[in-house]
Amino acid sequence: MKKMVTMVLALCLVIAFASVVMAAEWDKCAACHKAGDKPAPSKETMMKKLKTADAFIKAGKTNKNPMMNAFKSDAMLSATAKELYK
Ligand code: HEC
Repeated sequence: MKKMVTMVLALCLVIAFASVVMAAEWDKCAACHKAGDKPAPSKETMMKKLKTADAFIKAGKTNKNPMMNAFKSDAMLSATAKELYK
């Protein structure tokens, strides 16, 4: 019984840790890309429109909005795309 509890606890820890790690890239974008699509479209809205990681990266890069300027590096866009399109 004790073993079982320990195992469940360990599993919870792993899941909690994984979700924190997985949210890391998107967290940088979530300040603007949030539910309600203001000031920028939420990830659900963007993923509905942009079907693949490549389309996502391209749209981010070619977007003319100055608010996106600091977030257009290959590294940032591709890391986020990898996280969203699994
Ligand atoms: C300072 C606010 C802000 C942050 C932070 C931000 N963005 Fe944006 N982003 C915008 C705005 C504003 C647009 C333009 C929305 C539009 O064209 O309607 C945009 C557009 C985009 C688009 C194109 C959407 C489309 O439909 O063509 C992508 C892709 C994107 N952002 C990805 C990202 C990623 C990835 C990050 C994080 C690394 C990020 N953004 C961080 C404000 C931001």
